[in-house]
Amino acid sequence: MDMDIKKATTITFSPTGTSRTVANYIAQGTGIAQIDGIDLTHEAVKASLGSDELAIISAPVYGGKVARLAVDRMSEICGNGTPAVVISVYGNRHYENALVQLADLAREKGFVVIAAATFVGEHSYSTPANPIAVGRPDDGDRAQALQFGAAIKQKIDAGNLSEIDAAAIDQPEQIEGAMATFKSTIARWMTEGMPSIKTPTTDASLCVHCGLCVKLCPNQAIEAGNECVTNPDRCIKCCACVKGCNQHARTLNSPFAPLISQNFNNHKENKTII
Ligand SMILES: Cc1cc2nc3c(=O)[nH]c(=O)nc-3n(C[C@H](O)[C@H](O)[C@H](O)COP(=O)(O)O)c2cc1C
Repeated sequence: MDMDIKKATTITFSPTGTSRTVANYIAQGTGIAQIDGIDLTHEAVKASLGSDELAIISAPVYGGKVARLAVDRMSEICGNGTPAVVISVYGNRHYENALVQLADLAREKGFVVIAAATFVGEHSYSTPANPIAVGRPDDGDRAQALQFGAAIKQKIDAGNLSEIDAAAIDQPEQIEGAMATFKSTIARWMTEGMPSIKTPTTDASLCVHCGLCVKLCPNQAIEAGNECVTNPDRCIKCCACVKGCNQHARTLNSPFAPLISQNFNNHKENKTII
């Protein structure tokens, strides 16, 4: 069968940009001339994709699952036998069930999942004091994403649209005992009372009310003119406002940051299945 793929469409939800960057590298790697982007970070987008295009769907892992808002925002997207690659981007801890969940979701929506990957992105909670996968995706990740894109195009060119089993992808390498420490610490927090994960706080003396955080927030948790206040009912703790603030006025003090920084500081490799 001769497949003629006319364009690649990235479908991303990416508050701090890493999931989008990985999807864009993979799209570039395919060599497909026309690349479109559907950005679900700020709103749901209605789209129906054809069988003559490649969908590159990427979303971050939150708590071992696909970020809830990403799932919600994909509600108005559908494929029509559209070949797709799904990518879970995670902050160097683990992606747990997220990749299988994303593959299932894509399939339910009419996509044919012909490739999948897990890529590491700098953790949303990473700070200079608690660094986690700083700077990733880096040049090495970029090279792997480009190569992966090329391999996907080869598979399509060979007329091979066979579906992959996302569950069969290689697991991330862990430092011995890291996951046990992580889980037992959370279990202890649950019984002793969880240190609360608050919304980001704003240092009012640094905030210049430029409104950038209002634009960056994927869920309208910050109101223009009232930038020092974050609505806890809308905040998803994605840290787009924290990382995007030019004045460094916003911080999120998550108890997870030191726990993850200490236990998941080995360099994890990206994994692909095709
Ligand atoms: C609320 C929340 C939960 C997260 N949970 C996980 C997790 O379970 N495992 C992990 O490795 N990274 C986790 N991360 C880190 C993100 O998956 C990672 O930083 C990703 O690169 C962010 O994608 P983005 O840049 O597209 O927003 C979490 C981040 C947030 C904000």
